[in-house]
Amino acid sequence: MPALQNKQIIIAICGSIAAYKAAELVRRLGDLGAEVRVVMTRSACEFITPMTFQALTHNPVHIDLLDPEAEASMGHIELARWADAILIAPASANTLARLTAGMADDLLTTLALATSAPIAVAPAMNHLMWANVATQDNLTKLQQRGYTLFAPKHGQQACGEVGEGRMMEPTEQADRLSQLFSHTPAMKGLKIMVTAGPTYEDIDPVRYIGNRSSGKMGYAIAAAAARQGADVLLVSGPVALEVPAGVTCEKVRSAREMNHAVLTQLKGIDIFIAAAAVADFRPVTTSEQKIKKGDAEQAITLVANPDILATVAQQEKAPFTVGFAAETQDIEHYARGKLEAKQLNMICANRVGGAKGGFEDDQNALELYWQGGGERLSMSEKNVLAEKLLAKVISRYRPAIKS
Ligand code: CTP
Repeated sequence: MPALQNKQIIIAICGSIAAYKAAELVRRLGDLGAEVRVVMTRSACEFITPMTFQALTHNPVHIDLLDPEAEASMGHIELARWADAILIAPASANTLARLTAGMADDLLTTLALATSAPIAVAPAMNHLMWANVATQDNLTKLQQRGYTLFAPKHGQQACGEVGEGRMMEPTEQADRLSQLFSHTPAMKGLKIMVTAGPTYEDIDPVRYIGNRSSGKMGYAIAAAAARQGADVLLVSGPVALEVPAGVTCEKVRSAREMNHAVLTQLKGIDIFIAAAAVADFRPVTTSEQKIKKGDAEQAITLVANPDILATVAQQEKAPFTVGFAAETQDIEHYARGKLEAKQLNMICANRVGGAKGGFEDDQNALELYWQGGGERLSMSEKNVLAEKLLAKVISRYRPAIKS
């Protein structure tokens, strides 16, 4: 039976020019067998009339929290209980902020607080509003609370500008909503190993060679994979981040410890994602005592660390391997070089050293390359980017295991 058959869905519409696309969404969900009720904010009614949705759903549209007539037919708590899922589409920046703050100042936000059903949001707004740190922070918090993001797309906007903020198309939203109900999330049954963070190569008991990796990208990937049902092992260098829910984490310090943790637990791993910034070299010896100032003129001799990713990719039964490449110039050229040299299935290149994105930032942009193809994932919050990256990894992994 189709996943949406007989499912009771609330489509909640906010004030945005994309509100007109909600009509197509409601119709599509109806075609797929769902029973739809529509909730509109007051500002949504400025963009499209409630009558449109009443005609499409054959049900009254819910707008006000304290409307005696509406409460008499189906009160707000009853409506919150009725829903099998709530999809807020389009979700405006203002509503995302009110949801994050836990407000209950209109019907939509009250329902969000009162329901135990899953909630998905499909944001639609000007690209600068979307990129604003306040909006991105709100979204991260909502995702941490279990909201599902139907991420907006890049393209021409109603205001005439071009950027990320166009609402996901109704047909894709309907597909994603079906997945929420399908009992097999996208990564169910897959074993994923992710490396993250820097490695520290000790010089003496107080000094080490390290790098500026925060671990945020690797942790975001591990969290997203767990949300999608994967069995996730995160092998992490020293970082100041909490282990995401549902993720098993092994903490290591040096490249050699990371190498050991990875290789001893590689059996049965389907996808290996190397997001760690592994130190390429370590001191030949680690001094047992603190090196004194007077000794400082002596050179520290370095020796190469094992290349963990290349070693994994060379295994006889290698998993699907995804590497990262941090580049300051000629990104595609260098990234494709690493893809070839290490025999990877995919490489994710990011520009470092610029004003935005990269190591310590909460945001990043990635250029994905594989043999014969590639795709650009635009600048977004690392949580959002992780979801997009995994969607691409899965779409490349499935055919790869069949061949
Ligand atoms: N990697 C690894 N083990 C190492 C070094 C790197 O697993 N000892 C992985 C990283 O996790 C990342 C990719 O390999 O996925 C980066 O490749 P690398 O060739 O080390 O990139 P850079 O360090 O950026 O190389 P270069 O300095 O030559 O640009």
